[in-house]
Amino acid sequence: MELANRLNRLPPYLFVEINQKIAELRARGEDIISFAIGDPDLPTPAHIIEHMCRAAQDPANHRYPETAGLPELRQAIAEWYERRFRVTLNPAKEVLPLIGSKEGIGHIALCFIEPSDLALVPDPGYPPFFMGTILAGGKSYFMPLKEENDFLPDFKAIPAGVADKAKLMWLNYPNNPTSAIAGLDFFEKAVHFAQQHDLAICHDAPYTEVAFDGYKPPSFLQTAGAKKIGVEFHSLSKTYHMTGWRIGMVVGNAGMIDALFRVKSNLDSGIPQAIQHAAMEALRGSQQHIAESNTILQRRRDKLLKALDEIGLKARIPKATFYIWAKIPQGYTSMDFTKKLLDESGIAVTPGTGYGKEGEGYIRLSLTISDDRLEQGMNRLLAWHRRSK
Ligand SMILES: Cc1ncc(COP(=O)(O)O)c(C=O)c1O
Repeated sequence: MELANRLNRLPPYLFVEINQKIAELRARGEDIISFAIGDPDLPTPAHIIEHMCRAAQDPANHRYPETAGLPELRQAIAEWYERRFRVTLNPAKEVLPLIGSKEGIGHIALCFIEPSDLALVPDPGYPPFFMGTILAGGKSYFMPLKEENDFLPDFKAIPAGVADKAKLMWLNYPNNPTSAIAGLDFFEKAVHFAQQHDLAICHDAPYTEVAFDGYKPPSFLQTAGAKKIGVEFHSLSKTYHMTGWRIGMVVGNAGMIDALFRVKSNLDSGIPQAIQHAAMEALRGSQQHIAESNTILQRRRDKLLKALDEIGLKARIPKATFYIWAKIPQGYTSMDFTKKLLDESGIAVTPGTGYGKEGEGYIRLSLTISDDRLEQGMNRLLAWHRRSK
């Protein structure tokens, strides 16, 4: 048996070593507190589940769904974008539901990238941006996200030859893993840059509803000209605590959406319809839980930042996302520091280098951990710090 060479181009999964270590420690009976997973701990709101259960009883929803999703779902997504961002979308041409946004993020590379083509990808960044490029046979040019630039890419630093050759640019704000935010002024620069170099933009925005201190993140599509050159990926995962149900969407440029539809219609048969009905209820029903869960996350954010500060780990105060991107002490690599923390305190975090080489010097901590475990985790961190002084 001979596997395709493209598999050899996939880089080793950096979290494997840490995950193995966690599994070994747990097998030995150790209690590991994990700040490593970005998956809401709060349940999907009850009214959404009730709707899904009712839809699951209907035989009409037992059959193959369509790749394009139910027309009512596309309409509900368009209405949500209009209500939330004042962005008007044609539900037939500018909206496509996805089996979780990760699925569409991975597949869209197939629409643009030929072997040896280039995509501009943020570093650090969500790994599927460059994994999709690799699977399509292309290469990534990494745009460093530096703290001194507020973790925004510096378009002027990208050589013109690279920008002209690239087909696609990935952006993601509010950002995973840095939790940085971007305003419309930044998106305007991005649109201008894309127009200059004939690039398509894929903006990934699953965290626009996870925001604090009264901040309301914008949509990339609010920018003039954005829809002419780009799309925005969004998701019900983080907003409605629906990571396990697998439903997201891509909206914007009709040509890009049609291209992705053509790929997907040959690979998948859409999202189970009971879940599409649940998504309609999520988008159209009460939005009350969003403010409630942001209040909980903000309280956790403030507690954890205080504990991190006490042990000498500096981090910016996130205005959005449920991640803290903390600087580690000098003299350690992200991986060494992550292992040390795990060995000596039973606390699991994510090493920054899991998101790219610019993540060196950082760790990511997620706030999606129950209040009790957060409290225990912080006490352990403080005790560990006292012990190691
Ligand atoms: C930046 C970013 N994009 C996309 C996703 C994928 O979300 P979904 O559950 O919709 O596939 C995640 C999940 O962690 C993410 O952090």
